[in-house]
Amino acid sequence: MTERLADLLKEALQELSKAPAMDAVLQVKAKYLGRKGGIAALLKEMGALPPEERKKAGEAINRAKDRLEEEVEKAIASFQEREREENLRKERVDITLPGRRISRGTKHPVTQVMEEVGEIFYGLGFDIEEGPEVELDYYNFEALNLPKDHPARDMQDTFYVNDEVLLRTHTSPVQIRVMEKKRPPLRVIAPGTVYRRDSDITHTPMFHQVEGFMVDKNVTFSNLKGVLTLFLHKLFGEKTGIRFRPSFFPFTEPSAEIDIECVICGGKGCRVCKGSGWLEILGAGMIHPEVFRAVGYSTEEYTGFAFGLGIERIAMLKFGIDDLRLFFENDLKFLRQF
Ligand code: PHE
Repeated sequence: MTERLADLLKEALQELSKAPAMDAVLQVKAKYLGRKGGIAALLKEMGALPPEERKKAGEAINRAKDRLEEEVEKAIASFQEREREENLRKERVDITLPGRRISRGTKHPVTQVMEEVGEIFYGLGFDIEEGPEVELDYYNFEALNLPKDHPARDMQDTFYVNDEVLLRTHTSPVQIRVMEKKRPPLRVIAPGTVYRRDSDITHTPMFHQVEGFMVDKNVTFSNLKGVLTLFLHKLFGEKTGIRFRPSFFPFTEPSAEIDIECVICGGKGCRVCKGSGWLEILGAGMIHPEVFRAVGYSTEEYTGFAFGLGIERIAMLKFGIDDLRLFFENDLKFLRQF
């Protein structure tokens, strides 16, 4: 019996030492220490021994059992530790690795210029208003002193929805909408999208304008000149030369177009300014009495000036972009440069 016990223990320890993984350890545990295992079998046999030997044998078996249990526990603990380390290695985070950047995108150059224009006029006390892009003929033309047979309607190639409804060709109808609702003093700018049937390198069927107007008692042409000069100096720099030229719009009288010194060549003359050294940038004038009549303002009491500017044109000059269509293709390689 003593010999068999020694063999059993030896065998068990050997198997245990060769166990390649946790499940093999558990198998050894069951095989020798389980209820039907080798140790249990010996304990059962022990009952048949004479009493003097039984006690010694019992002690020996229990020692062997304790020893084996101890070794099994050690093996289990070592495999558990190995597994834990394995998991830690797998889950390890390399904190020295640079994080993935979220690409932020940039504002469209048209939006940037709109916001800059808005900020300059906001600083001068102007409020921002908006009007509909699908507009009535009345607001786009009639109330702006352009009756149905007026020849100046040909200046603007209009998209008509039907006889009375159209896509606004300029932001000037917002003048009428605001003046119908409010009384002077008014200082308003109205940025927005406008539409004309035109498409080539310098024209797209949709583009952006900012309308501006000021109405009060005693508003004069020198107010117009002062405000627009200040605005253009803020936008293009204090040193930029500015020139006012007489012009015509049905809704202003007198009317002017305003040029800035060519920002590309500095006034020497180049392809962009067609050799003239000047770039047309704004249409403006004193609001026509017929316009005031359309909204029920007294032409005795009030005067005002109005102006309109094209945002894309300004963005082209500010950023040195030479093809208008680039603004609307939305090629990310183009947009990311701003
Ligand atoms: N609405 C005119 C245009 O689109 C610009 C303008 C606005 C001119 C206000 C004078 C006064 O060309």
